[in-house]
Amino acid sequence: MLVAVYLEGGRSGEWRQRLQECLPGIPCRTLDENPPADSVTHAAVWQPPPGWLASFPRLRCVVSLAAGVDGILQDATVPSGVPILRLAGEPLAARMREYVLLAVLALHRDLPRINCDRQNRIWNDPVPRVASERTVGVMGLGVLGGDVARVLSNVGFRVAGWSRRPRQIPGIRCHAGRRDLAGFLQSVEILINLLPLTSSTRYMFDHRLFARLPKGAGFVNVGRGAHVVETDLLEAIDSGQLSGAVLDCFGIEPLPETHPFWEHPRILMTPHVAAPLDAETGSRLAADLIRRFEAGEKVPVVDVAAGY
Ligand code: NDP
Ligand code: OXD
Repeated sequence: MLVAVYLEGGRSGEWRQRLQECLPGIPCRTLDENPPADSVTHAAVWQPPPGWLASFPRLRCVVSLAAGVDGILQDATVPSGVPILRLAGEPLAARMREYVLLAVLALHRDLPRINCDRQNRIWNDPVPRVASERTVGVMGLGVLGGDVARVLSNVGFRVAGWSRRPRQIPGIRCHAGRRDLAGFLQSVEILINLLPLTSSTRYMFDHRLFARLPKGAGFVNVGRGAHVVETDLLEAIDSGQLSGAVLDCFGIEPLPETHPFWEHPRILMTPHVAAPLDAETGSRLAADLIRRFEAGEKVPVVDVAAGY
């Protein structure tokens, strides 16, 4: 057995070392260490170079070192039939729930507008609404979105959710499928994107979708940058259709210095840090998945045809 490790951004070495500590006896090698292709049985990766996974003839499984698998499935040469597993767990869910709570409360309490007023030295003090008077919508009711929906409901918001297949979550008004998208959007005053990036969801947050929300709605993007048509988002904010946005993900990362998002007073943004995993925790979760997979235990496997 041999585990090939790769993460873009120069992080492979640290993750390999941590993974090695969690998998004593199973060699773990990075791309730079040129693992012999015939020996590689497992790959633990994020955005591997196109063709790298296809070069391993004895590959038994791929572990995504992130919750999203778009960084793996974007390589059309990934061998079909090799199961893809992905990281999930409480540290990830905890960070996401904290981030979304922060973002929703910021929009709920009108921080983008207050920030604009502040820059113009305007003292405008309307009485804020309470959570029970506000409907929040979560697109994507999976591991992270389902958790976020429950937390927002517990805080007191009215929560609606949207998924591909029908779901039932106590306390959440659940909608499913494209045909029920307009019905879902029409009452949502703060919209959260927690969808995976697939061929069905790429660029779905465009002017048509924003126009279906009540005027003045807020938007939180913690999915992927390529879910959003960024020029449509800017137009929706500038026209007042949206009151503001909290963005963690962008079409190009790092966001180019000249991008209009940087300066926009109604956009609060963070550099894709909603729910990252450090090498120590991520490696522990990845090693655990590899061990359970090898032991023949039931582990959740990505549905490659659906793209997540
Ligand atoms: P899951 O796979 O557990 O859930 C995906 C959800 O999206 C499911 O409810 C699924 O529907 C729904 N969905 C997928 N395709 C469609 C579609 N075409 N129409 C309607 N609903 C759809 O994913 P996670 O909750 O674990 O993660 C979601 C995403 O969050 C990741 O893919 C990643 O992009 C992003 N993420 C971002 C992070 C950050 O730091 N910004 C950190 C971690 C993740 P159904 O229930 O019917 O299957
Ligand atoms: C993920 C991410 O998908 O951090 O886990 O974006």
